[in-house]
Amino acid sequence: MLFFGNSFLLLVGILFSSLVEGQPIPPGCVDITIPVTITAQNLALPTDLDVLDFLTILEPIIAEPALTTVSGTFNIAATYCEPVTTNTTLFNTLQLLVHGATYTKAYWFGEYYSQSNSWVDYASNQGYPTLSIDRLGNGDSDHPSGLGPILDVQDPIHVEIIHTIIGYARQNQLVIPNPRSFTKILLCGHSLGSVISNVLNTKYPSDADAMLLTGFAPILPTNEIGLAAQALLFPADISAPQYAQLSPAYLIFDNRADFDFLFYYPPETDINMQNRDWATRGTFSLGEAATAALPSQVASDYTNPVLVVTGSHDSFFCSLLSLDLQFLLGSPNCDTTATGPAASTASLYPNAKSFTYLIPNAGHCWQLHTNAYATFVQVHEWIRSQGF
Ligand SMILES: *[C@@H]1O[C@H](CO)[C@@H](O)[C@H](O)[C@H]1NC(C)=O
Repeated sequence: MLFFGNSFLLLVGILFSSLVEGQPIPPGCVDITIPVTITAQNLALPTDLDVLDFLTILEPIIAEPALTTVSGTFNIAATYCEPVTTNTTLFNTLQLLVHGATYTKAYWFGEYYSQSNSWVDYASNQGYPTLSIDRLGNGDSDHPSGLGPILDVQDPIHVEIIHTIIGYARQNQLVIPNPRSFTKILLCGHSLGSVISNVLNTKYPSDADAMLLTGFAPILPTNEIGLAAQALLFPADISAPQYAQLSPAYLIFDNRADFDFLFYYPPETDINMQNRDWATRGTFSLGEAATAALPSQVASDYTNPVLVVTGSHDSFFCSLLSLDLQFLLGSPNCDTTATGPAASTASLYPNAKSFTYLIPNAGHCWQLHTNAYATFVQVHEWIRSQGF
């Protein structure tokens, strides 16, 4: 049986692009590689950090975080999609999509399972170019080896990589069809991708012209993340043959029932989608797990619009019970009032131009639920309402 603390938290999921090789990517899309040279202030983590002692080792570090400089040159895998519907007004507007933990950029394509689960397909039909990246250490991006998944693959380096890619997009330095300088960046995160984007908004408040935080809420209790990692994740190299070559500090979900509970709200799911999601699930590095446990920061200098889209049955953000108890009771019901998790994200954005939240009837990975399409419509109505 699972053992958790209270409401546990976050991060999420994924899939593997290596398993979908051979499938055509959608019309207008090209796979690209973006080389980045990065220096970041990562969390100073002990090299003997491992999944079994994770929480015990982590707690004092999170209580008094010390930083250390890391640097390197990495290849970041991405898919760029020129929209299938031309709207010249949107030619220089780019949606930059950042996946959650244990997922890849395939998340934004509905895991290539169904067009009605593909955020990218919807955006493309509405005239928006998209760039979906695999974060460092995930999907087809470089996987730092040895101690890399502890020391290098952390949230601070993800922030610097996203900041660098936004700079490339604004300065016509992406190798894409119809190269141009993008002038409007709509940054969209899911789960850990939202956690990382929130940190980016505090450090580089003018990078995003609008921020879309999906599968997100500000509460992220340290021990919940730690317990989640320790109780639910397992070294990927011994758990899954496709990851045999990875260092043991890349982790993977090992139990299907836990995975389904954390990511899905059963009444709105398609078992074939869930099977695909499980079969292609990705990894989560110990460095990502540790830095995801740092408290959310207030993005005081961020002054652009913010949209939060978090499911009304999100098991990470809405369980007030210990997760093991919640697991027995079934998906939690979120507090959807102004004091609930989605709405309380406003406290992190005191100077945003506007703040709006949507609460679809779904679990954490709402984009993979059967009712995702209706929310894609609402999200894009919001984007237009903000003048993009
Ligand atoms: C093109 O995009 C702009 C900005 O969202 C919107 O106002 C306009 O209606 C769109 N045009 C068409 C033909 O859809």
